Amino acid sequence: MSLIPFDDRDGFIWFDGRLVPWRDAKIHVLGHGFHYASLVFEGERLYDGVIFKGKEHTERLFKSAETMDFTIPYSQDEINAAKAEAIAANKLTNGYIRPFAWRGSEQMGVSGKLNKIHVAIATWEWPSYFTPEARMAGLTVQTGKWRRPAPDSIPCHAKCAGVYMICTLNKHAAEAAGFNESLMLDHRGRIAETTGANLLFVRGNEIHAPIPETFLNGITRQTVLQLATRRGYKVIERAILPEEMPLFNEAFVTGTAAEVTPVQSIDEHQFPGREVTKVLMQDYDDLVHGRLKLDAAA
Ligand SMILES: Cc1ncc(COP(=O)(O)O)c(C=O)c1O
Repeated sequence: MSLIPFDDRDGFIWFDGRLVPWRDAKIHVLGHGFHYASLVFEGERLYDGVIFKGKEHTERLFKSAETMDFTIPYSQDEINAAKAEAIAANKLTNGYIRPFAWRGSEQMGVSGKLNKIHVAIATWEWPSYFTPEARMAGLTVQTGKWRRPAPDSIPCHAKCAGVYMICTLNKHAAEAAGFNESLMLDHRGRIAETTGANLLFVRGNEIHAPIPETFLNGITRQTVLQLATRRGYKVIERAILPEEMPLFNEAFVTGTAAEVTPVQSIDEHQFPGREVTKVLMQDYDDLVHGRLKLDAAA
């Protein structure tokens, strides 16, 4: 696979209040965000020139920063305007938006109160998180070794760098074993989510969704559950145990990057059904492209 390194691309990155040439958006090696994971971020998608739920993502970025005990030195309106600026500068119509904020280099140690807060926004073309073949066939998922910590052990509802460390470890292990993804259980052994998307199950006309107590209640998850309700499916949010997997005929993940993507298997359990998943994939696609209006249709 030939990779285009992310530090060697054309275009512009919005960095601390102005657009800078992509390759010049640099930070020093000694920084709190880098060493102590004091960095929060968002992942957003631009469809036909419009960010899907852009304001909600900005709100979450600010909430994540607050949870990490720092204040983003801009207003939410300013960040929304900056996203538009970055998109325009890169002439993007469809793609991915990555706003992030982190503690700088003034102080190097666990305490970080004196560090300046930096903000950057990068945008790039990113057609699909998974290959089209993998998407339609469904993901193969392996249960990971690392579990989502208890909500009083880590700020699990913030989209912050630190919580992804175990995701990378699980994802590496899954990929090394020939799977696409990794299932994260929570600290009690209940089904939580995958490494970068929420996980939902289907049984007849019921959607069973793990309660987001130890993981991010994704903006896509919330949207898809609304779409499911609109379709007349029964949404059941509850604790789901791994031994219940044989009860379900379909499984799928939701996320800004993953959108709605079927799951083919989790360990030895197969999920051959696609009926409900396909309906929700189409509804989500219609929604993000403005062909469906959720409020009017709900
Ligand atoms: C760990 C994790 N869970 C769930 C999600 C889905 O969240 P959203 O639908 O808001 O993109 C993401 C993506 O941001 C994620 O990284």
